[in-house]
Amino acid sequence: MQFIDLAAQYRHLKTRIDQRVQKVLDHGQYIMGPEVIELEEKLANYVGVKHAITCANGTDALSLALMALNIGKGDAVLVPTFTFFASAESVAFANATPVFVDSDADTFNICPMDLEKKIQMTLAEGELNLKAIMAVDLFGLPANYPEIQKIADKYSLKIIEDAAQGFGGEINGQRAGSFGDIATTSFFPAKPLGCYGDGGAIFTDSDDYAELIKSYRVHGKGQDKYDNVRIGMNSRLDTIQAAILLEKLVEFPRELINRREVAKQYEQNLADKFHTPRIPKGYVSAWAQYTMVSESREHYIALLKKQDVPSVIYYGICMHQQTAFNMLNYKEGDFPVAERLAKGVFSLPMHPYVVEENQQAVVKALAR
Ligand SMILES: Cc1ncc(COP(=O)(O)O)c(C=O)c1O
Repeated sequence: MQFIDLAAQYRHLKTRIDQRVQKVLDHGQYIMGPEVIELEEKLANYVGVKHAITCANGTDALSLALMALNIGKGDAVLVPTFTFFASAESVAFANATPVFVDSDADTFNICPMDLEKKIQMTLAEGELNLKAIMAVDLFGLPANYPEIQKIADKYSLKIIEDAAQGFGGEINGQRAGSFGDIATTSFFPAKPLGCYGDGGAIFTDSDDYAELIKSYRVHGKGQDKYDNVRIGMNSRLDTIQAAILLEKLVEFPRELINRREVAKQYEQNLADKFHTPRIPKGYVSAWAQYTMVSESREHYIALLKKQDVPSVIYYGICMHQQTAFNMLNYKEGDFPVAERLAKGVFSLPMHPYVVEENQQAVVKALAR
């Protein structure tokens, strides 16, 4: 059994993907070809925003968002400590300081109460210029944007939505990628909407941010890439990846339904024994991962392994405990909820093509 079965998906879409890729090989516009433009239009439509700008990966997407918001040395960005490294890394890479925030015990996302607490602490210290909140849609579930927006408005902060895992999620019909001032996603193959290599995108309703990001992604271009008006980077989505994503986007709504079905099966069979994911009313998860919490996770991981069922720990180390952030002088116990999650989470096989037999095998292995 695969944890994420990309080969099964490719078998399902093979003819269409092969034809799309062949078209690119025939026209030969490998960089910023027509498929990139078509994909950006379709992504913007899907998410429900004015601009979608593709780039080389989800980490660059975060960096480009921070560049557009003019965040740099002396600035601070609030980030959940329980996330993938790239969220916090992009802030440090911009020479700004990540200020970590604890998690909500039920949703695993940034805790609005602790967020406000950390804002007040940072303001009281008076050393950093608080600029933005980077909320992460962890495991596919959008963060609590209604509350985050209220806090952002109160303290005049920008919001970046890191929807690397959340693309496909919703809150009351509003799609992930449309929350906050700028949102980003990743098309890493294992993501809900993944390509067959690296890829990413930025979403915004702001014409000004969109124009800046389009410049930053091509060496800070002005009129063209040989007229350079700012220091930027080289971060474009390959045309071949855009072609693959165009075909996968057609299939995406159906795949989301399949993921939901797998999650439902797990929930029905495991909720009485485990702390299974909680989805607040009005929220839709993209089910990037199906993640449970147990104080005996090593025992359950071993049980699963014995039955040839793969499982993965996302994430075993919080950001404030990563060696790379030692200089920020956090200590154990600073973020009790996130630390407990890091010690107890484990994720089960989750993708749109988990066959019934395998779903049952997962459940049975845990029942033992
Ligand atoms: C929450 C989060 N943010 C950012 C990223 C970075 O995306 P990429 O791997 O495409 O650079 C990831 C990827 O795993 C992620 O999970």
